[in-house]
Amino acid sequence: MGKKILIVHASKKGSTEEIAKAIAQELQAAGAAVEVAGMEGATVGEDVQAVVIGAPVYAGHIVPAVVKFVAGNRPRLEKIPLAAFAVGIAPVMPQAGPVEKLLEEMKKALAPLTPVAITMFAGKLDPGKMSFVERTMTKMLKVPTGDFRDWEAIRAWAREVAKALGA
Ligand SMILES: Cc1cc2nc3c(=O)[nH]c(=O)nc-3n(C[C@H](O)[C@H](O)[C@H](O)COP(=O)(O)O)c2cc1C
Repeated sequence: MGKKILIVHASKKGSTEEIAKAIAQELQAAGAAVEVAGMEGATVGEDVQAVVIGAPVYAGHIVPAVVKFVAGNRPRLEKIPLAAFAVGIAPVMPQAGPVEKLLEEMKKALAPLTPVAITMFAGKLDPGKMSFVERTMTKMLKVPTGDFRDWEAIRAWAREVAKALGA
């Protein structure tokens, strides 16, 4: 029997959630029983044996939902392995990061837990899903719009994570 793995995401506009689902497929292929859930109010049950956390970056920061999730589930999370991924435009637009700084911020949000794997993926910017303010802001900052998700890289990372988590 594979492990029971929970993937929680703090997606606002759906792109991080889709990445979470792609990772779920790879973990399932490795034999795990996987559940994907929104991070808000998510509880790590006693039966969950590993967790993957996915969070987007908005306005220069990992969304605060991560800190809340970790604080709310500390006792259980301290007993099981954890992997984490950030999503944002920084991998294709270093001014929006840099990636290293955002990964440091993600590590801080998880502390004192230490992930067995951590990475950042390029996300998706869809002007159709932005508010007027967001559209104006990203236009002003010349943030490129489009879908920059590299599904091969995402799935390759997921296969590594499957091994690291003992899926
Ligand atoms: C208003 C706004 C601000 C953003 N700020 C950043 C940022 O500072 N750094 C970054 O790397 N990505 C930034 N992004 C890109 C998002 O992280 C990216 O669109 C991501 O895929 C969104 O995930 P979601 O669809 O799950 O909400 C921003 C996007 C928007 C719409």
